[in-house]
Formats: sequence, structure tokens, C-alpha cells
Amino acid sequence: MKQWDEFLAPYKQAVEELKVKLKGMRGQFELNSTHSPIEFVTGRVKPIASILDKANQKGIPLDRLEEEMQDIAGLRMMCQFVDDIHTVVNLLRIRNDFEIVEERDYISHKKMSGYRSYHVVIRYPVQTIHGEKNILVEIQIRTLAMNFWATIEHSLNYKYKGVFPTDIKMRLQRAAEAAFRLDEEMSLIRGEIQEAQAFFTRKKEQKQEEKN
Ligand code: GTP
Ligand code: MG
Repeated sequence: MKQWDEFLAPYKQAVEELKVKLKGMRGQFELNSTHSPIEFVTGRVKPIASILDKANQKGIPLDRLEEEMQDIAGLRMMCQFVDDIHTVVNLLRIRNDFEIVEERDYISHKKMSGYRSYHVVIRYPVQTIHGEKNILVEIQIRTLAMNFWATIEHSLNYKYKGVFPTDIKMRLQRAAEAAFRLDEEMSLIRGEIQEAQAFFTRKKEQKQEEKN
């Protein structure tokens, strides 16, 4: 157990640091009063049981976890619109505090399950009392609709241990298509939505100023 704590410590630190940094990007857009391509950010360290399950499934020896399991530290960045995803990826590419080692585009190439998301794997340097330690972190960038679908599918996957009854599988496929259409529809009225959001942000700011 102490060994796990030691192994996971830099991952925990990385997730905490990156949550602050990536949420900070949203804050900067707000300060600018421009539409934030980032809606919200979450992060987690993979639970030990899930690490063991995945290592077992994929045949990863436990002494190779650092190199071969890319999502022990995981961040998610949720966006309103599909185009925002590309804006966010570009913002990640120009940062100097980590290096991108891999990108997986499951938006242009959705998975068989219906899963869509953009994955960026980074090498992130954590400063420790023993010096710098580089670890892999997976950042998933997706729209709110993609996130809704993936979250539901993940729970069902858990329930059925990956083997879905045929009707559930079909419903999930249809739900994935509906989520895709929702993203398309929202993109088409993006201009309208943003105007409304900017209007309410201004109103809120005015009210705040009146109070001060
Ligand atoms: P794993 O899919 O994690 O075994 O590793 P991989 O190397 O194939 O990476 P991939 O990019 O395919 O998936 C990494 C992560 O994406 C997973 O841990 C999930 O969080 C998410 N993901 C991938 N496929 C699906 C899917 O079909 N449904 C859901 N809900 N999530 C998925
Ligand atoms: Mg996979």
C-alpha cells in the first residue's frame, strides 16, 4: 500500500496542478469577456483497482505501468461546440509546461462503440523532493454532448462488463447519433447562442458593478 502511495503521488500532484492550469485558461477567457472554448475541467487519478484491471486486460507488467499506461493521470476538458475542441487542442500545443507525445482523434474517426473525443497524451514534469519526474497524462477534450454519451456508456459498460444486450447496444448507437446531431445543430446556431451568452455576461457584470 505504501508502495502504491509512493507510485501514485506524482500522478496526484500532476492532476492537481493541471486542474489549476487548465481551469486557469477558462478564467483568462472570462477576463477577456470572450467566449471561453472551455466549459469546465475535471481530473482524476485512476483508482488502484482499475489500474490492476486494465494492466491485466492489456497484459501490461506492473513494472511497465509508467511507460505503458497513459491514463493513470487523466484530465477532461469539456467544450460547448465541436470547433472549440480544436481551439483547445491548439492552446495545448503552444504551451511550454509539457510536451505532447500523442494525439488520438476519435472525432474524425469515431470508435465502433460510437465514442467521440479528442485525446492528447502529454509528458508532464512534476517537481519532487527527489528531483524532476516526467509522467504521462491523458487529456480528453470533448463537447458536453460527447461527455454525456460517454459517461452513460461507461456506466452501462461497467454494469454489463463490456458485453451489452443487443437492444442496449442499439440504443447506445442511436444515442451516439443523437449526440452527434445535437453537436451539429448547436454549431449551426452557435452565433445566436454566443450573442445571448455575451449579453447575459455583460448584464451580470453591470449588476456586479452596481453593487460595488
Ligand atoms: P483504453 O481504451 O483506455 O483501454 O486505452 P487505449 O490505449 O485504447 O486508449 P483510448 O484512447 O482508446 O482510450 C482511452 C480512454 O478513452 C478510456 O480510458 C476511456 O476513458 C475513453 N474511451 C475510449 N473508448 C471509449 C468508449 O467506447 N466508451 C467510453 N465511454 N469511453 C471510451
Ligand atoms: Mg481503447
